[in-house]
Amino acid sequence: MSEPIHHIGVLVRDLEAAIDRWSRATGYTFSEVGRYVTDAYVDHSEADPHHHDARIAFSKEGPPHIELMEFTGEGTHSPAQGEGIHHLGFMNHPDVLGCKERLERAGVAADGMALDDAGDILLWFTDKRALDGIRLEFVSPVPQPIVMDDGRPAHRDAHGFPSLWPTD
Ligand SMILES: [Fe+2]
Repeated sequence: MSEPIHHIGVLVRDLEAAIDRWSRATGYTFSEVGRYVTDAYVDHSEADPHHHDARIAFSKEGPPHIELMEFTGEGTHSPAQGEGIHHLGFMNHPDVLGCKERLERAGVAADGMALDDAGDILLWFTDKRALDGIRLEFVSPVPQPIVMDDGRPAHRDAHGFPSLWPTD
């Protein structure tokens, strides 16, 4: 793998408070709050596909952008994980399954995966124990289940995919 890091994911207890402090500290502009919502997330808390609803905001500046994510669920994004750096994100990965299999052969397991209706991987995280407490995130180059915080459809990017940013 040789792609540059697209974003650094930071897990926080209170998203609005985090946007405020990260904006003030960095001078960065953060997007409106959105949600990554799926009923097909699997992780160490529950091996069967289950509901996952992560409130998120991205910095406009980057890459690497900063992704702030609020605690949710009982697994990879739960309060038990603590606040702080959660993952290094790689977007538009052309072969998320092949990447997962290659890393698993290298001793880096998965923990956290969002699946589409066909059971294909939309995104996945490495197990934080494999890499010093930090996960890698690999996101497939397909539309992701993102909506605005109030449930409205997300903005659309240049490819027509859901986005937290309106097209300029
Ligand atoms: Fe991410």
